[in-house]
Amino acid sequence: MSDLYCVFGNPIAHSKSPAIHAAFAATSGQDLIYEARLAAVDGFPQAISEFIAAGGKGANVTVPFKEEAFRLATRLSARAARAGAVNTLAFNGDEIVGDNTDGAGLVRDITHNLGFSLAGKRVLLLGAGGASRGVIAPLLAEKPASLFIANRSADKAVFLAEAFSDIATVDAGNFAKTAGKSFDLLINATSASLSGENLPLPPGVFASGSLAYDMMYGKGETPFLAQAREQGAARRADGLGMLVEQAAEAFFIWRGVRPDTMPVLAELRAKRAP
Ligand code: ATR
Repeated sequence: MSDLYCVFGNPIAHSKSPAIHAAFAATSGQDLIYEARLAAVDGFPQAISEFIAAGGKGANVTVPFKEEAFRLATRLSARAARAGAVNTLAFNGDEIVGDNTDGAGLVRDITHNLGFSLAGKRVLLLGAGGASRGVIAPLLAEKPASLFIANRSADKAVFLAEAFSDIATVDAGNFAKTAGKSFDLLINATSASLSGENLPLPPGVFASGSLAYDMMYGKGETPFLAQAREQGAARRADGLGMLVEQAAEAFFIWRGVRPDTMPVLAELRAKRAP
């Protein structure tokens, strides 16, 4: 019988993860089934127990369950402990092992797929919620020249910067505090675009040749990337590559095989082309 995996979220109907993992399995010759399952907002632990009882070997976890998955895990990888959130679970006997592949996926997309080295770069991370927290340690591991976390409420950015101060000195503040500074890489980890709002980015934050990266993705240009274009960002990328790369990292955790991500990403991009 094929090994069983799935992604849990709410909502989950439009998840691309089943198609991504099916493509990985096909190209790497792995025999597995990967489903999308809706968990009730208050029913995540029960959904996990039922899935384990049905023989599930591992699961991805998406909004809004990543912090709950973190609490449910009986063992955490170092990067999941740092992130305070879990997006990948592996079920080994009685153990529920929690990992977080989001940061690795982001870094891989930027450095490998986009060919943008983070070493020595000035990085601005926008947002100080869970999405932001999950990627800070992997970003710092690439040894950027500096990292600034900007957030609507400055105190949350300052709190996050302090939480990672053992790794590197991280600057933090509200958006206005970035005035007069320029950055080589700006990453949007806010959910501002859901409310259709532009971020109050001072003029000049996009250095010449800079890359604007939106962890969100959608059918067309995201609001943040439209704003980045208007404010002069030389290069722009949305989070579709991060989605595929975090999935590849989860696939590797479960199967010990690193799938080829490029054809999968190319197909997803082709599918949504107008
Ligand atoms: P996630 O897990 O996606 O990070 P979250 O923890 O709710 O979700 O965090 C959402 C982030 O988007 C926060 O940084 C939030 O800023 P605040 O901490 O000030 O609330 C940011 N955000 C949401 N809407 C925004 C908007 N309209 N303008 C600027 N930032 C916004």
